[in-house]
Amino acid sequence: MASRIKSIHAREVFDTKGLPTVEVSMLLEDGSSGLAAAPGGTSRGSSEPFDLRDGDQSYFNGMGVGKAIHNVNTEIAGRLKGMDAADQDAIDRALLELDGTGNKSRLGGNAVIATSLANAKAAAGARGVELFEHLGGGTEIPVSLANIMYGGPAYVGVAGTADFQEYKLYALSAAGPKDGYLRISRIYERLREMTVRNQGFGIPRLAQLAGGLAARFDSNEEPFAAVTALIEEEGYIPGKDFGFYIDMAATQLYEDGKYHLRADNQVLSREEWIGRIVDLCNRYPIISMEDCLHEDDWDGWVELTKRLGDRVQLVGDDLFTTNPVRLRKGIDMGAANAVVIKPNQVGTLTETFETIRIAKAAGYGTIVSGRSGELWDPYIAHLCVGQSLGQGKMVNCPAGGQHLNELMRIQDHLGGRAVYVGRSALAKFL
Ligand code: PGA
Ligand code: ZN
Repeated sequence: MASRIKSIHAREVFDTKGLPTVEVSMLLEDGSSGLAAAPGGTSRGSSEPFDLRDGDQSYFNGMGVGKAIHNVNTEIAGRLKGMDAADQDAIDRALLELDGTGNKSRLGGNAVIATSLANAKAAAGARGVELFEHLGGGTEIPVSLANIMYGGPAYVGVAGTADFQEYKLYALSAAGPKDGYLRISRIYERLREMTVRNQGFGIPRLAQLAGGLAARFDSNEEPFAAVTALIEEEGYIPGKDFGFYIDMAATQLYEDGKYHLRADNQVLSREEWIGRIVDLCNRYPIISMEDCLHEDDWDGWVELTKRLGDRVQLVGDDLFTTNPVRLRKGIDMGAANAVVIKPNQVGTLTETFETIRIAKAAGYGTIVSGRSGELWDPYIAHLCVGQSLGQGKMVNCPAGGQHLNELMRIQDHLGGRAVYVGRSALAKFL
């Protein structure tokens, strides 16, 4: 077995938010190696695996990862050494068994995901193939989608900014990822100019680190109207050339059984809030809405899906946390019609593949996503193409970022075999 694991070593590195995280180097007997780190989130779903932190308040407010690193270097390394890295399923099963808890709380979800990803990379190296080829071998380049503005309490949290966490645009008529990014960048640039000119703007800490714009708006509707107008001014047709993808991250807006819209100075019941969402979708070219309702408001999700599910992609992120059990429950109930895929939300690659299989079999859309504390590593782009997911939240304006570059590299590598999925990924909603 050429791809037998020789050694595993974990160390501390810092994520893009400046917080410590676990990085794992895996070396195989044939000399191949894999390097991966646990990406950190900001608006985490409560069903995500346990993120093992040291709790020593004198070091990064308790966010140190010494225990998780120790677990990789001792127990995990001891258990996996000598195993075949090509068998991802067996590696991930061994990790789950060794942890022995339902939520990876003993070894740490961060220790487990970094090891699982490092293993896949080492195995791809041993095969002498690109990571996307190892992760499924798909050839589909996802529809162009990029973030143009941040908002919401977890990301921005500044009075006078809009309440929804991410405002993204699809470039529906673009010819590929680069063309799409250039088109969306143009709208982003116009939005930035407008906010500087008319309103002044601040870039709070998180939005700045994510490289994006946070702007002042007097209501939650105003950004939709402003961006739609800018699309028209640029000579494009809203709904045909561009459409919105909004992550409402509504768990962050939910308090005491109500949805608190600070930008609108309103507190809405679930029924009123659903009515507001439907109204927004009636008036603006909204194609996808993520986390419109609280992560445990299953009945609300079912109601919203009944009302909008045949014409809007309703995406569960915190709702499903990439978890097969939660996704199955949603499918059975008729909650949402698409799922965000974040490997570190469920903890291993094998579990991620299972969630993808379940989603595809049920006709649910699949949108791979990085985390806000994502590092240098564009593995998400490989997962998206390898598994033919068709959609990904991984590109930001103003700087396209490492995922855009990686998508272009993958496209280049595939050459004539690359298939740009484009708007067909969203056919049901156009
Ligand atoms: P994150 O979440 O900040 O936890 O990565 C992003 C999202 O809500 O999609
Ligand atoms: Zn989200």
